[in-house]
Amino acid sequence: MISTNSMIDFKATILQGIPSELPPQRILSSEANHAPKRKDILSADEKKLAVRNALRYFPEAWHHELAPEFAEELKQFGRIYMHRFMPEYKLYARPISEYPAQNSQAASIMLMIQNNLDPAVAQHPEELITYGGNGAVFQNWAQYLVTMQYLATMTVEQTLHIYSGHPMGLFPSTKEAPRVIVTNGMMIPNYSKPDDWEKYNALGVTQYGQMTAGSYMYIGPQGIVHGTTITVMNAFRKVLEKNENPNGKIFLTAGLGGMSGAQPKAGNIVGCITICAEVNEAAARKRHQQGWVNELIENMDDLVLRTKEAKSKKETVSLAFIGNIVTVWERFYEEEIFIHLGSDQTSLHNPWAGGYYPVDISFDDANQMMADQPELFKIEVQKTLRRHSEAINKHTSKGTYFFDYGNAFLLEASRAGAKIYKDSNGEFQNSSSLGEGAREWAYPSYVQDILGPMCFDYGFGPFRWVCTSGKPEDLQKTDAIACQIMEEIKQNSPEEIQQQMQDNITWIKEAKKNNLVVGSQARILYADAEGRAKIGEAFNQAVQSGFLSASIVLGRDHHDVSGTDSPYRETSNIYDGSKFTADMAIHNVIGDSFRGATWVSIHNGGGVGWGEVINGGFGMVLDGSREASNRLKNMLFYDVNNGISRRSWARNDNAIFAIKREMKRTPELKVTLPNLVEDTLLENLF
Ligand SMILES: NC(=O)c1ccc[n+]([C@@H]2O[C@H](COP(=O)([O-])OP(=O)(O)OC[C@H]3O[C@@H](n4cnc5c(N)ncnc54)[C@H](O)[C@@H]3O)[C@@H](O)[C@H]2O)c1
Repeated sequence: MISTNSMIDFKATILQGIPSELPPQRILSSEANHAPKRKDILSADEKKLAVRNALRYFPEAWHHELAPEFAEELKQFGRIYMHRFMPEYKLYARPISEYPAQNSQAASIMLMIQNNLDPAVAQHPEELITYGGNGAVFQNWAQYLVTMQYLATMTVEQTLHIYSGHPMGLFPSTKEAPRVIVTNGMMIPNYSKPDDWEKYNALGVTQYGQMTAGSYMYIGPQGIVHGTTITVMNAFRKVLEKNENPNGKIFLTAGLGGMSGAQPKAGNIVGCITICAEVNEAAARKRHQQGWVNELIENMDDLVLRTKEAKSKKETVSLAFIGNIVTVWERFYEEEIFIHLGSDQTSLHNPWAGGYYPVDISFDDANQMMADQPELFKIEVQKTLRRHSEAINKHTSKGTYFFDYGNAFLLEASRAGAKIYKDSNGEFQNSSSLGEGAREWAYPSYVQDILGPMCFDYGFGPFRWVCTSGKPEDLQKTDAIACQIMEEIKQNSPEEIQQQMQDNITWIKEAKKNNLVVGSQARILYADAEGRAKIGEAFNQAVQSGFLSASIVLGRDHHDVSGTDSPYRETSNIYDGSKFTADMAIHNVIGDSFRGATWVSIHNGGGVGWGEVINGGFGMVLDGSREASNRLKNMLFYDVNNGISRRSWARNDNAIFAIKREMKRTPELKVTLPNLVEDTLLENLF
């Protein structure tokens, strides 16, 4: 129970923003996981600019003391985090009533921000990074303090504009407008290379928001467990006969980090044998201690024996192998161990700074090489990618189904010259041996084969909600409401979406048992536009009637039907050439903003890397009001159907089906439909 005094202190501290007296220097927590030292990329003049930029948050009287301190941070960490200004109070999603705010919309956003910075949730909490190594909520603590102060004082006729963590200010707006507009990493396109992020982030003028990090919508590991479960389950459906199940079948992959750590847990829910290689022993041990993976194996011979045993006994088990993934692919080939599903979730969106480790070099030596000999490190990484691909190719030639799991594996392997394409004879080739012209990789991304056609094209995507009361009882009530609505909708759903409905009904029924809540009382569920709107409406009514004790925040992962343009991931199953455009994501954020979102965000980067994706999201507060009911219907409808229309225009069959169905139900919706062309007509044209 929080004491009244400490609550007053918390509120007063928030209202103060930048403290009136210079706080003492802080010693960094030895328990917290700290961000790696970033690249020393600025010239001497640029470093001065970075310090000058940082000092503009503080009164001149403090500059003498802070200037050398910030210069030292820049030297030590490659960034100026302003650790001295970290709050003394604990950061976590408090019950909404504990926030000093003029309205529940602003208080909800404060709750969501604090959740993203909670040390139990965030990857590098003291560096304001929520996940993905660089997914920042703010660039520095001054931005946090000023933002919270603005939120505490804002009315429902003001909007706070946030530029990559920097609160530009409160501007007069209207009740219907979003309370917060967030942009992260928006660059002039020509300045969107990985080193541009290093440089402009070090200068303190941009940040990498990943997806839900910079939009305050992260809900801990639950989101990724659900998404990975849906992916692995549907991947098995693709490769198994109708009468087979995943028992005793192998899913081989890599990575036991922030997101990738969900793979063994998902594999266990699906019921297969998951083998997950991880080069960082500490990461593997952490996942094992947390119960995310069943067994830890340090030696290759033991791994081979244990795998054969699990296969013969048809066990549901997850094995973490401490070592490089390449060695597992190679040895399993020698041992003739058949792999049903193969994938990879090393951090290849960040290949040169610790996302992917070269084979035959110890983890410590590789880290040393990365800092001291970055060019050599790059050569080793690319050599490993070629070897990795070759080993995968041998397995797939025997029938393994391999898919890219959204970590830029195929992209980086192709850049490394790996034989990741097939020629007209079905032989594996690298890009230089294929000559000019458009080409497809030999393997699909999980969106091309699984999530795109099975989920996104029908409008199913990662809808989520947070109970701002902070009460587990409220979460249970929302689970029950959502389950009932899904069951009702399923009764009259067409055959095409029955499977998705059923998978999510099963998920929500078991959600409590899977015990996945870390941080705020949150839940994820894949639903289509109809499901999202009906569930949202039922929640709003439950808030209004007092059945739920406080408002609900609705949102979603950016990795969804309409929110993200990402040619190698979310929009990889778009084949009309438009997958390299980002109009959909931009329309989405603008469209959501005037249809009732409480906050919206649009980011460069996220998942596959800076410059490789534009992604957006929203948050919406359901306070039980009639206005909230109108807003949710209007906005959720657009938020899903925007993407279905685009997917339908790209001639995706399932999206054409879904949008036609929606137009029948909603006469005001009029979407331009594609006319399909006979293949033979085009054959001899050029
Ligand atoms: N498909 C999706 O929905 C989805 C969702 C989240 C993340 N991702 C992507 O997946 C990747 C992983 O995300 P994360 O948060 O787990 O990152 P992470 O950096 O926390 O974890 C990756 C792990 O891979 C390990 N690793 C690197 N090279 C290895 C090798 N050669 N052999 C074995 N282990 C190796 C690293 O030690 C690290 O622990 C990222 O690129 C991310 O963008 C995809």
